[in-house]
Amino acid sequence: MTHKKKKRKLKKQVYYFLAGIIIIIVGIILGINFYNDFKYKQTNEYKLVSKGYNLEDIKILLEKLPEETITKLLEQDKNDQITSLVKEKYFLVKNLDRYLAYIEEEEEENMTDVVAIVNVNADHKWYEEEYATDITLKEQMIVNKFYALNEEYTPENLVAIPLNYAYGTEGENQLIDYAYDKFLDMWQAAHDEGYYLMVTSSYRDYASQKEIYDSRKATLGERKADETAARPGHSEHQTGLVIDMTSKTAPSGSEFAASDEYKWLKEHAYEFGFIERYPEGKTYITGYSPESWHWRYVGVEAATTMQKEGITYDEYYAFYIEK
Ligand code: DAL
Ligand code: ZN
Repeated sequence: MTHKKKKRKLKKQVYYFLAGIIIIIVGIILGINFYNDFKYKQTNEYKLVSKGYNLEDIKILLEKLPEETITKLLEQDKNDQITSLVKEKYFLVKNLDRYLAYIEEEEEENMTDVVAIVNVNADHKWYEEEYATDITLKEQMIVNKFYALNEEYTPENLVAIPLNYAYGTEGENQLIDYAYDKFLDMWQAAHDEGYYLMVTSSYRDYASQKEIYDSRKATLGERKADETAARPGHSEHQTGLVIDMTSKTAPSGSEFAASDEYKWLKEHAYEFGFIERYPEGKTYITGYSPESWHWRYVGVEAATTMQKEGITYDEYYAFYIEK
């Protein structure tokens, strides 16, 4: 073989070698792509995209729903109801079936309301279900149409509110000590701004709540009584964390809602850990007509969150404590 021929042969071999390398590299790249594509098609994200969900919704669905619920979702057509529910701030996955049942039964379209109503158990009739209040939660315990204290429950460390701040007889009005301390701070702050708050009712035991409820029922009938007074065991007054208030000068009762004192409380009570427990427009959540006079101690942190978010204690408890 001439020298020239040898050189040509070598050149050819180099070309084949390079071509071989290129084919292997392209093969690897295609293989990786194919594998990635195959893998992606197995993901829930891909499957949800195929069902017509957009990526933004998918992100929330995958974040909020457990695998088994996603699997169920993939067995049906695109479900806009579930997507809207999941986007609600106070959505709780444990309540998903109840949200859907409520929407169907009540033909309710406002998802914010659906979530709020179910979270606070108001998809049940009042008093239909009864759970025991967890008293270990102290100032964060809940007492409402569904959660009750037992007949014997008496708060520890009740202190008498002096007559400087309360109507009635000496020792008649009582609060748990730590709530009383905060009440005094609030009272003073209001006083510094020219308001004179007076307590009209506070701790009430089971028996006195029974008397109140029974007499309300006798005069108003059960439905109206239930909107204005709690059944025994179901009154927050039994917690020792509640004060009904009025002012020395402003009118009391429901007219208190029109007073400057009430306006002041609405702006400042949370700074001392007190909240308006039965606000206007929330009867469908609380079960009670508005009570401008009824203020509940829950602690500054909880009260601040509720003030910022505009939610009732029932909603706060369901979402932040019970979950
Ligand atoms: N009036 C309030 C709801 C109570 O009876 O506890
Ligand atoms: Zn009250």
